[in-house]
Formats: sequence, structure tokens, C-alpha cells
Amino acid sequence: MHDFFKDKVVAITGGTSGIGEAVADCFATAGAKVAVCGIEKDFEQESIKKKAAGKVENVMAMVADVTKPGEVAHFIDEVTKKFGEINILHNNAGIYKRSPSLDVSEDDWDSLLAINLKSYFFTSQLMAKRWKEKKVGGAIINTASINARDVEPEAQVYCISKAGVVMLTKCLAADWGQYGIRVNAVAPGTIPTTLNEDMYTDEERKELSESLPLKRLGSPEDIADAVMFLASEHASYITGQVLFVDGGWLLVK
Ligand code: NAI
Repeated sequence: MHDFFKDKVVAITGGTSGIGEAVADCFATAGAKVAVCGIEKDFEQESIKKKAAGKVENVMAMVADVTKPGEVAHFIDEVTKKFGEINILHNNAGIYKRSPSLDVSEDDWDSLLAINLKSYFFTSQLMAKRWKEKKVGGAIINTASINARDVEPEAQVYCISKAGVVMLTKCLAADWGQYGIRVNAVAPGTIPTTLNEDMYTDEERKELSESLPLKRLGSPEDIADAVMFLASEHASYITGQVLFVDGGWLLVK
């Protein structure tokens, strides 16, 4: 699988921490040229590059807000200028907000849906137009969640956004297969990252781990492995699928 990625160009939204950062590291280790964008103005370019398997020249990081089409287009243009045509897009940027559904504000709804869902559609559309015009195929992987299936109390809008990612994945896969574009999703279980650092105490994390069939929480690298599989030649006949990477969560919850 690893040779397949040599000199492939990978763009990852939300690649400056957590799952996206691990995905960047794994692709860079496999010889790909990797570009990440994130929202934090103060993220450490150098630290991201160093973390990506020491192949500094094969990694670039930029600040780009996925809710701003101009910034996304600029990111894609800069990546293409530096590395050549993008082959793999990983839509991974995401935020998580809890609020009882009776208290959800319009601002909460708009920001969750804009980042977690709308940006996945329009970033994918931007790439698909380029790939269609150039008559090259491509692979898109979207980050969904177990919450696309499992309702989480007080995180209903997040659940709605992730269920939307699943349907978006199927719709675009059905439409763009004719252009050689595959669209799939990974759906992580609980992965300790900054997204959920305040959600559990150590004791709760331990209990949660023990309640899962595989007796541990996932790691960002567990998700990266699934993303790489879906992006690889081994998945060349797979499109419109959602791969749950959850340690068995959905079997028992
Ligand atoms: P994280 O907080 O470590 O990373 C989130 C990334 O999204 C960061 O790179 C951040 O810069 C980026 N981001 C946020 N808003 C953005 C914006 N407006 N424009 C551009 N980038 C933006 O969180 P984590 O856990 O790595 O999350 C990554 C994805 O995985 C998200 O889509 C999340 O919903 C999903 N996920 C995470 C799970 C977990 O347990 N950590 C479980 C299921 C899904």
C-alpha cells in the first residue's frame, strides 16, 4: 500500500491537530506530499512539519477557514502550485458543541453546519470540478462520526451534521463515480483529542474504554489507517461507503 502514495498529493482540512495531524503524518511517512489547513492563527508550522515524519520539504501547513470559499480556493491553489495536482482530499475540519436542543441558538446551528457539513460539500465540489476538467480521477474521504448513527444527548446538532456527512458521501459518490472520483467516509468512535478533552474525567475515560468490545479508546492513528486504506488502490472499487472505526462501540451502545 505504501508505494502507492509516493509523490501523491494529499490535502487535509482540519489537519493541524488531532486526527488530521495523524493522517498527515501517516501519508507523509508513506512518501506523499501533504498539505494541511486549520483555523488556529498561532499553530506551529514547524512543529507540524517536524511531526510529519521529518520530511519537511513534503509538508505544508496554512491557516484557512473552511467556511470561507476564498480561503479554501487559495489553499487549494497554493498546494497545487507547490506540489502539483491534488490526488486525495480529506475533509476533516470539525467542531463539537454541546447544548440541549431547546437552547440551541441559530449561531450554534450555523457554525456547526457550516464547518462540519457545508464546507465538506463545497471543498469537494471545488476539487471535483478541477478533476473533471483535467480528466483525472481522485479520492475524497470525509470524517463522519459514530454520532451519524448514535444520538448523543445535548449534541444533537453535531449528530445532525455528521449524519449529513454520511448522506453527502453517498450522494457525491453516486454522482462523481463517472469521473473516476471515489467518495468515502470514516466514522470514528471516541478518540482523545482537543475536541473532547473536557468531556470526560480520567475515571470516565477508563470506564468507557472498558465498556467497549476492544477495551480501549481509539487513537488518531487508528483513524489515519482507515483513511489511508480508503484513499489507496486497495479501495479502488469502493465508493459511497462509511467505515466505522469505533472499537465496537456501535455493537454495544
Ligand atoms: P481537533 O479539535 O483536534 O481538530 C479539529 C481540526 O479542525 C483542527 O485542525 C482545526 O484547526 C480544524 N478546524 C476547526 N474549525 C475550522 C475552520 N473553520 N476552518 C478550518 N479548519 C477548522 O479535533 P479532532 O478530534 O481531531 O476532530 C477531527 C474530526 O474528527 C472532526 O470532524 C470531528 O468531528 C471528527 N470526529 C472526532 C472524534 C473524536 O472523538 N475526537 C469522533 C468522531 C469524529
